[in-house]
Amino acid sequence: MGFTIPFVNGDTRKKRTQIISVDLGSRTTKAVLLERRGELLALTRFAMLDAPIADKKISPEQLADHLHAISEALGGTGKFICAAVGLGDALVRQLELPQMPLDELRSVVKMNHKNYLQQDLPNHAFDCYIIPPRLNDKPEDGKSAPLTPNAPKKLKVLAAAAKQQLVNDFIFAAKSAGLTADALVPSLLGPINAFEKALPEAYAKDAVALVDIGFKHTSVCVLDRGELTTNRTINIGGDQITAGLAEAMNISYAEADGIKVGMAPEIEGYLQSQVVPLGREIRASLDFFEHQQDRPVSEIYLSGGSTRSEMILQILRSELLVECKIWNPTGFLQLALPGQQAVEIDHIGPQLTVAIGTALAIY
Ligand SMILES: Nc1ncnc2c1ncn2[C@@H]1O[C@H](COP(=O)(O)OP(=O)(O)OP(=O)(O)O)[C@@H](O)[C@H]1O
Ligand SMILES: [Mg+2]
Repeated sequence: MGFTIPFVNGDTRKKRTQIISVDLGSRTTKAVLLERRGELLALTRFAMLDAPIADKKISPEQLADHLHAISEALGGTGKFICAAVGLGDALVRQLELPQMPLDELRSVVKMNHKNYLQQDLPNHAFDCYIIPPRLNDKPEDGKSAPLTPNAPKKLKVLAAAAKQQLVNDFIFAAKSAGLTADALVPSLLGPINAFEKALPEAYAKDAVALVDIGFKHTSVCVLDRGELTTNRTINIGGDQITAGLAEAMNISYAEADGIKVGMAPEIEGYLQSQVVPLGREIRASLDFFEHQQDRPVSEIYLSGGSTRSEMILQILRSELLVECKIWNPTGFLQLALPGQQAVEIDHIGPQLTVAIGTALAIY
């Protein structure tokens, strides 16, 4: 089990045979149907659908219709569903707290969230995850080092908050769509969980950055030998890149989006001025880590719709001066996809990072 912040109070410890995991992206919904086959996890279907409305809040009924459409697109056999909520809907902070059991931790964070999460969040659901210590800090026999009585080691905790209404809506919508809601997980955790399974060596040994370039936001997580050390949200994504192109080229948003995807050589200059600021922000997050830990980030693993563009990747590479890789989160799964999907998975795979990682958070 990976990083998990389930929010929903369902019995997520149950081993489900089949699970639907949905990345409720603000622009595109990505969904996978996974099936447990003994020790293996099989990917049996995936689906990409336009998100209901990119800018406005959707009603519980619209969400129910959307979940129904997802379930149909996945063949209609899955019953249990977990979903990732985007950076705009779930707040995630890393905290250091005294040693205490998880249940206690949850109530401490809830009671004192104004202090810990630095804002008043009425009617919110809170959840916590205790970050396991760095893999290499453990002695060879696998037991953790004994705590010295004078200096009890603090817990590193990920605390998250989401509107209670969102959690309720998800449970309601799943039920209306004939499904059972198992968990709602902040999307930030998806790439981390998927990465741990897909590239276990790099996860255990290296300092790497996982960068997901989404629609409105980009998330940057620095993992140092299996420990999450930095997580940051940058308010730039594909939407701003398109809007910036449209303005600079004096064309409509829709045209700019098409041109961006088409990668016409003449747009490179315009694209550069939109993507360079994103590269600088990512670089600043890496600098922060490198300065604190005195250790370089050796690779950046990218995901998100914008990374389908070779031009955007090139601009980021020259700005970041670190190896930037597109990675495949399906490598550790048994692929059992029907006809056409078995072919498409090669290029769709990287888009499914959050959906796959979300399922790993709870199953
Ligand atoms: N081939 C492509 N080239 C460039 N940009 C692309 C390409 N395909 C998709 N995009 C851009 O990717 C963006 C959507 O990315 P993505 O699907 O990762 O967002 P999301 O997951 O829905 O959003 P979020 O994670 O922020 O909630 C859009 O702005 C779109 O223009
Ligand atoms: Mg996304």
